[in-house]
Amino acid sequence: MNHDLSNLTQDALRRIAQTADLRALDDIRVAILGKSGTLTGILKSLGALDPDARRALGAAVNEAKTSLTQALDDKRAALQAAALDAKLAQERIDISLPARPDAQGSIHPISRTIEELTAIFGAMGFTVKEGPDIEDDWYNFSALNIPSHHPARAMMDTFYISSTSNVPPVLRTQTSPMQIRTMLAEPPPIRIIVPGRTYRADHDATHSPMFHQCEGLVIDRGITLGHLKGCLSDFLRVYFDNPSLPVRFRASYFPFTEPSMEVDIGWSRKTGEIGKGDDWLEILGSGMVHPRVLANCGIDPSIYQGFAFGMGIERITMLKHGINDLRLFYESDLRWLRHYGFSPLAPANFHEGL
Ligand code: DAH
Repeated sequence: MNHDLSNLTQDALRRIAQTADLRALDDIRVAILGKSGTLTGILKSLGALDPDARRALGAAVNEAKTSLTQALDDKRAALQAAALDAKLAQERIDISLPARPDAQGSIHPISRTIEELTAIFGAMGFTVKEGPDIEDDWYNFSALNIPSHHPARAMMDTFYISSTSNVPPVLRTQTSPMQIRTMLAEPPPIRIIVPGRTYRADHDATHSPMFHQCEGLVIDRGITLGHLKGCLSDFLRVYFDNPSLPVRFRASYFPFTEPSMEVDIGWSRKTGEIGKGDDWLEILGSGMVHPRVLANCGIDPSIYQGFAFGMGIERITMLKHGINDLRLFYESDLRWLRHYGFSPLAPANFHEGL
């Protein structure tokens, strides 16, 4: 009997060692230790033996049971660990791969310019604000010192939204209303840029009914024309990547600034090269915020001064990248976007170079 037990144990241990999956292992367990398992059968037969023989065989059967149970447990743990390893290996994600190695899309040149404006003005301490495309007449015109019968209103080819009000809302013709919204919402010091969509009823190779502007506003004590000139010269030289870009400030007129200035950069009319030649190219409008505009927003012009500026985003993008037809920006032609678009993996910032 002892001999049979030792054979049975050896045989079972060998089968356990050779088993490669959990189900087969459980079959072995049932065959040995289950209700009608072989070892269980021997245990049951002990009752029929005389006490001495029962004691001797009983001890041996218990020992065999302990070692087989241990072997089954160890094997189960090993198979479970191997199964987990296999699963992990199968579900492994290679995080060393680039996020989008075959990026199909590209950043639209307009979005790229907005990123660049954000990076450049951000470095000068400006924050970015956005405002509504549909504006009240007051924000778009009156508060900006453009009264009802002012010629500037007629010049702007405004889209009016149909309404029962006798002063209908408009699609904003400029980003300047955000000057008003900002000054009403927060006390000085203010230093913001506002990139966004603007609308005018105008359509040809250089005008689109929807286009983009970027407004700028600085309000603080003791702000002078010197700050305006320094800020905009720095901006233009960084944006056009030319530290000696000629910049000229030319007296002009805007209802919401006094004095007002058009800003020109040097270029060659003949070759189109920026920063070369003897010609001037108008690039943006600017000026010292009109005292009446400050007063309209509850800011005391004898305490606070400021400057504002506004530029066309399409225009500065076309000049920088040699794009000659404005309409192409909005046609969603994939060949054009592939050519003029920017990699999503190269966001505009000073570390990457603009
Ligand atoms: N809002 C003007 C336009 O649409 C641009 C502009 C000019 C904005 C001078 C300004 C400014 O803030 O100071 O033509």
